Amino acid sequence: MAVKNPIIVALDLRTAEEAVRLAQQVSPYVGGFKIGIGLLYGPGPATIGALASLGKPVFADAKLHDIPSQVKAAARSLARHGARWITTHASGSSAMLEAAVEGAASVPSADAGILGVTVLTSLDEADLAKVGFGTTPGKLVSRLARLAAAAGCEGVVCSPLELGVVREVAPTLVPFTPGIRPPGVPTQDQARTATPGEALERGAGYLVVGRAITGAVDPVAAAREIHETLPGVRENS
Ligand code: C5P
Repeated sequence: MAVKNPIIVALDLRTAEEAVRLAQQVSPYVGGFKIGIGLLYGPGPATIGALASLGKPVFADAKLHDIPSQVKAAARSLARHGARWITTHASGSSAMLEAAVEGAASVPSADAGILGVTVLTSLDEADLAKVGFGTTPGKLVSRLARLAAAAGCEGVVCSPLELGVVREVAPTLVPFTPGIRPPGVPTQDQARTATPGEALERGAGYLVVGRAITGAVDPVAAAREIHETLPGVRENS
């Protein structure tokens, strides 16, 4: 049975033009496009609309983290620009997450959902200790996923290694998983990684794939190869 395409390509490129061009090229092999703070603070949120016009959902990885009123305003604005998903750091706690959900919901035409970023995939236990979190990534993800679910988030962003925890403590949330590396691709600055197949087996709803596609000599071939390795994924959503 054909299933939706779970690949979200992270378009971490220098200009909006480059991002839109690459999005067009890899579009047949991905289910959505993600832009991060590099483009949101550079060319700006209009890039969301340019990508949305290609006909796939756009993930605005804004990683919002501020007082609730500011986060609500930012979520509303990103939803107006056409974002389908908007990220907020779940460590901003309940009131901030609820404000983000309210801000997104205040633009009914957008159908935007809030994703709580749990623990960045570039961090390990030693990094958490340095900033005062005396716990493991798994325990912190568990706590933050519960907060995100209670606040009405649609999903969370977590590493492939914490998918089991999220599925267990917050089964209603859709897990979005960065730190994806096909076999043989360097992990770079990511500390907690898995292959696309492993992440799906562990319960990922969507796979966020950046440099394994954007940094490849032939990004279109890289996207096609990842798409072809996913069992049952024969159609785009
Ligand atoms: O290039 P790579 O595949 O490592 O990119 C991963 C993408 O996922 C980046 O755009 C990064 O901002 C994002 N991300 C992450 N870890 C999180 C949340 C988002 O790496 N916890």
